[in-house]
Amino acid sequence: MSKNTQAPIPDSYPMTGGDGDYSYSRNSFYQRAGSEVAKSIVDNAIQENLDIKTISSSVSRNSFYIADFGCSVGPNTFTVVQNIIDAVQKKYQSDGLSSQVPEFEVFFNDHASNDFNTLFASLPPPRQYFAAGVPGSFHGRLFPESTLHIAYSSFSIQWLSKVPEELFDRNSMAWNKGRIYLTNAPNEVSEAYAAQFAKDMKNFLDARSKELVAGGLMVLTALSTPNEIYHFPVSPEFMFDLLGSSLMDMVKDGIISEEQVDEFNLPVFLASPEDMRRCIEKNGCFIIERMELLIPLSSINAQACAMNIRASVEGLISKHFGSEIIDELFGRFQKKLEESINLVEEIMTKRRNQLVTVLKRK
Ligand SMILES: C[S@@+](CC[C@H](N)C(=O)[O-])C[C@H]1O[C@@H](n2cnc3c(N)ncnc32)[C@H](O)[C@@H]1O
Repeated sequence: MSKNTQAPIPDSYPMTGGDGDYSYSRNSFYQRAGSEVAKSIVDNAIQENLDIKTISSSVSRNSFYIADFGCSVGPNTFTVVQNIIDAVQKKYQSDGLSSQVPEFEVFFNDHASNDFNTLFASLPPPRQYFAAGVPGSFHGRLFPESTLHIAYSSFSIQWLSKVPEELFDRNSMAWNKGRIYLTNAPNEVSEAYAAQFAKDMKNFLDARSKELVAGGLMVLTALSTPNEIYHFPVSPEFMFDLLGSSLMDMVKDGIISEEQVDEFNLPVFLASPEDMRRCIEKNGCFIIERMELLIPLSSINAQACAMNIRASVEGLISKHFGSEIIDELFGRFQKKLEESINLVEEIMTKRRNQLVTVLKRK
């Protein structure tokens, strides 16, 4: 890497905490809809693929361990966890094991910088599980060997551990000048992002393969591109492109510098089903029980879309450009979304952008 090209992106990028107007908890309707549409897949996976007899030898002290990786601040995580518990109880009943339903322990994982205070303060008061927070990156080990029965993660594994370094290197073909993402960029940029995703998924799957008991299930939901050739413009990446062009407009108006944009890239990759399959097969410890692309939303408006993306990236953008540009940036972004609302609607309500993968630990 040449001088002055140090990657400035921090290694954790929590969603906006608290419960204010711009918070993740009040603006995560897209992810909520995503979990809702995946609910029947999770339920079916538990009824069809969870073999109580196989895992019961590992249900020590009659406890059943569930972890949500990248839980953020709720309320989505609570709904998801309750759905999993309901499905597991149903499975015990349908297997004639009602009297052996275990106690549930739920682990809420996210980066240590996540707003765990808000998460814990908003835990549903009557609940059928013990709750614990597990801070740290899910790209490494977080649990002892063979302890988890169900691992879940929604809209989190698309976040990379870092922006690929080549994107900041002026001497690299992957130098991402004037863009904040891979849309409209040379192939080298997409390749660098894909390689980073593969490294991160390797670490994620290696860790989970150690932590899950034999027969344990893992459900992964993530934003996706239907396949590698349709990256743009009919994928959610279009939204990132509009955000990037809003930043470039602010460069033209002298509000921020072009160098600031050159040194900023989103640490996100929307893997295709094939990208995901390759990572899982390389790991080799899981059976792919199901892989499906879904459509979470039936309607969308520009303001809600801007607020949702703001709640996810405000911290990241403030850290790099300063918090004083945020209102201006997201005002411009919302305007661009309004101008392209037909395409935004097409992408978010008609295209299959949400990949749900059900895995079983061999
Ligand atoms: C878009 S939110 C999804 C939250 C929730 N699962 C939902 O569906 O609403 C993504 C979350 O993943 C977390 N995350 C990203 N990378 C992570 C990592 N390496 N380790 C743990 N959490 C991570 C972020 O901090 C953030 O809270």
